Amino acid sequence: MRRILPLLLLAAVFSCGKAIDTQKLSALAAEQCLIMEQSLTDGTMPRYFQGDSLVTAGLGWWCSGFYPGVCWYTYQLGGDPAIRALALRQTGKLLDLDKVSRDHDIGFVMMGSVAKAYEETGDSLYLNVLKDAAGRLAARFNPTVGAIRSWDNPKYTYPVIIDNMMNLELLTYASGLFDVPEWKEIAIKHARTTMKNHFREDYSTFHLVDYNPEDGSVIRRQTVQGYADDSAWSRGQAWGLYGYTMMYRETGEEDFLHQAQSIAEFLLPLSRERAVPAWDYNAPAESIGQDDASAAAVMASALFDLAALAPSPASLTYRLRAEFILEELCKDKYLCKPGECAGFLLKHSTGNYPGGSEVDVPLTYADYYFMEALCHYAALQAE
Ligand code: GLY
Repeated sequence: MRRILPLLLLAAVFSCGKAIDTQKLSALAAEQCLIMEQSLTDGTMPRYFQGDSLVTAGLGWWCSGFYPGVCWYTYQLGGDPAIRALALRQTGKLLDLDKVSRDHDIGFVMMGSVAKAYEETGDSLYLNVLKDAAGRLAARFNPTVGAIRSWDNPKYTYPVIIDNMMNLELLTYASGLFDVPEWKEIAIKHARTTMKNHFREDYSTFHLVDYNPEDGSVIRRQTVQGYADDSAWSRGQAWGLYGYTMMYRETGEEDFLHQAQSIAEFLLPLSRERAVPAWDYNAPAESIGQDDASAAAVMASALFDLAALAPSPASLTYRLRAEFILEELCKDKYLCKPGECAGFLLKHSTGNYPGGSEVDVPLTYADYYFMEALCHYAALQAE
């Protein structure tokens, strides 16, 4: 069983004088995680912070795995047993799938929390939940479409959003764990269908593709959280980059590496100009100043991962850009101070600009991918 190795002691040796001070960030994350727990009940998880209030969500919200995941990454970074116990407590809230499983996002929920608890403890309690969760996700696959249905929202016929790429990791992970090749095949098929229908010539992606489940044809391509149907919603681009990088790591299929590198080619010039993007790369003048730190955090983590998988010299470019983005997120503008933000870590994310919700706020998934990127960074420093 692979145990989580505390990275901090190794990384601390290398962190002195760097813009990214892993030791200080580890201490901040531990303090914030403990503050956050005080505002939660057995049935709630953090969602965002606005004004001076924490807004929580029930366990069925797609983000319920991220706070346990922040605790797990904080433990990975610092090795504090009190944070390990906290991560186990928070993960324990997610073991009843009837309360947490609503749609495709069961992948996000499980990989941030229960999969990490299983990797750390080897406890079969978590194993059973993961098997059930993967089965539920696989059951959303329609072979005629060649994709998993994201939502059951009656506004659409068979909606598949780019975010769905992230949930495939539950299938590839569980496929290996339980020796069910079909789950990995579903993940590969979904990724290929998405590659064919979601992407434009420049490798930017649409947010949502609605399919006809009778024949698999595309009914409509549109946005939900972006500026326009043909714009590049920033977090969606980051989900795509992360998703294809992860699928290459999980399957070794070369077309996924090619896809991830092509998406990176679209994003790298944009991120050189502005490390933390606007909420949409095509945002109009009146909202161009509105950052999405969550998109930056997802992109930084994905680029660290891609750097470990891609050949030179691209590999070094990805790593340097990931560090550049992470350094930006560690500046006072973005990083909450100890005791601030009700226990969140990063300011200035945008959940749904057109919906007028979660605009310019700390968000739980921004913190999760920030901590994941930081763990990648610390591991590289320790090499
Ligand atoms: N649906 C996930 C997101 O808002 O990025």
